[in-house]
Amino acid sequence: MNFSMRRMRARFTLIKGKAKLVVTFILCTALVLLVDHFLGLIAVILEKDFESDFSYPLDVDNFPALIENFRNGDPVEFEPINRLYSRPKFLEKADSSCDEFKLMLIMIKSAPRNLKRRNVIRSTWGHPQYLKNISNLIRTNKLVTSSNRISIPKNHQEPNAVFKLVFLIGLISDEENDKLDVDSNDDDGALGVGELSKSLKDTLPQDGVTEKQQLEKKLRLESTRYKDIVRIDTLDSYSNNTFKTMMGIRWASEVCTDFEYALVVDDDMFINFRNLLLFIESPATYPDGEAEDSDSEPVGQIVDANRLFAGKVLFTKPIRQRIGSYSKWHLSLEEYPYNYFPRYMPAAAVVMSKQVVEDFYYASYYTKHFRFDDVFLGIMAYKMNIIPFSCSYFYVCHTDGGKCPGNIPPKKKRFIDGSEEDNNSEELTVVEQMEHVIAKHGLNSDQLIDLWRELTLFGRI
Ligand SMILES: *[C@@H]1O[C@H](CO)[C@@H](O)[C@H](O)[C@H]1NC(C)=O
Ligand SMILES: *[C@@H]1O[C@H](CO)[C@@H](O)[C@H](O)[C@H]1NC(C)=O
Ligand SMILES: *[C@@H]1O[C@H](CO)[C@@H](O)[C@H](O)[C@H]1NC(C)=O
Repeated sequence: MNFSMRRMRARFTLIKGKAKLVVTFILCTALVLLVDHFLGLIAVILEKDFESDFSYPLDVDNFPALIENFRNGDPVEFEPINRLYSRPKFLEKADSSCDEFKLMLIMIKSAPRNLKRRNVIRSTWGHPQYLKNISNLIRTNKLVTSSNRISIPKNHQEPNAVFKLVFLIGLISDEENDKLDVDSNDDDGALGVGELSKSLKDTLPQDGVTEKQQLEKKLRLESTRYKDIVRIDTLDSYSNNTFKTMMGIRWASEVCTDFEYALVVDDDMFINFRNLLLFIESPATYPDGEAEDSDSEPVGQIVDANRLFAGKVLFTKPIRQRIGSYSKWHLSLEEYPYNYFPRYMPAAAVVMSKQVVEDFYYASYYTKHFRFDDVFLGIMAYKMNIIPFSCSYFYVCHTDGGKCPGNIPPKKKRFIDGSEEDNNSEELTVVEQMEHVIAKHGLNSDQLIDLWRELTLFGRI
């Protein structure tokens, strides 16, 4: 009796101990969140007003004039302040076929391990034959008719290929190395671009060969085979994103210079070039010849075709909280003291005319480095008086869909009791939803393949 009482009491004490631990844990978590929230609020209070106070180094009276002098090699009273290119150089240049005019450079930011995504792009919207087909439509005036913004010189040697597509890839970082296991099946080729994967599978890890070296070897093979990789001497990490984008811009300004437009995109994008070119041909009236209703959108005026800088324009506040789903974008007041960023577009898809690319290249020497590439471009645009042009047909979406067009809907209606019924909804089909879409972000490889199949099936690409 006495014994079992003691046992019960012991157990009770144990449970009490555990409960205490859980409660303490919850309280601590709550406290940390509260403090983070509080510090975030304080930071917001201390922010400077963007509209009235914005100034970003190098701040001079006439920034565009300074950059113009720098570009022309004329005397400039300041030394460059950004050592963006002092160390990094190009490791490998994609093959030399930059000799001839290109209507568009397509620069895709990709991480070393994303072979699968690159192969899916090579077999869908980046397929050489698809790009040739589009080039042909332009050459024969079947795509755009008034063609003053989009045309191919008559004496062009290779009218079939006016696009140049490259992947921008950095050095394999340890961060990258850690992710290798998670995505180990990422090199399965898609839609018939599988031979490379096969030959890679033959090169099994040997003793003494690290995964990093394995990945490096794969990349060399891939580069030799497709000749579409621009390798950059900067660690491939999220914090180096700005280096990557700017190295692409440098490559376009120094190496592959005979082009008209440049498209910078992520490797989880879908692009419809037919629509993109129609948009470039007449940005203000895409897609139906009428100006877009722009109540909520800060739509820029395109005064000059040479100054096209377009995508989905955002006007957002910096993130001050260190904890939570947006924490990777956290900024301290020292890093960025203002309550808004200049208007910018997510670098997931940005299209620029050549002059804008060069403006950014030269301006980057005189603009203090900023960690987020898209905001960095936005800051330079602001300083150079380049007005970002917003088009709502550039979609930034999450993989799980939300309100984005073209997310394949379920074929069956499902009811709460578990019964199903064919979904004969009269809502738009995927193909109809995608009709005018220029760019769509947030697709994994399988989603991209599905979408591409659906669109090619209906001849909408
Ligand atoms: C290119 O065009 C040809 C002829 O119109 C067509 O048969 C082929 O499927 C197209 N290829 C791609 C990859 O779009
Ligand atoms: C790139 O990122 C790494 C760590 O993420 C950092 O050490 C390095 O300084 C960054 N810059 C360059 C140019 O590699
Ligand atoms: C039915 O299909 C439409 C699009 O065709 C989709 O938007 C809707 O969510 C689907 N409904 C259900 C209940 O699955």
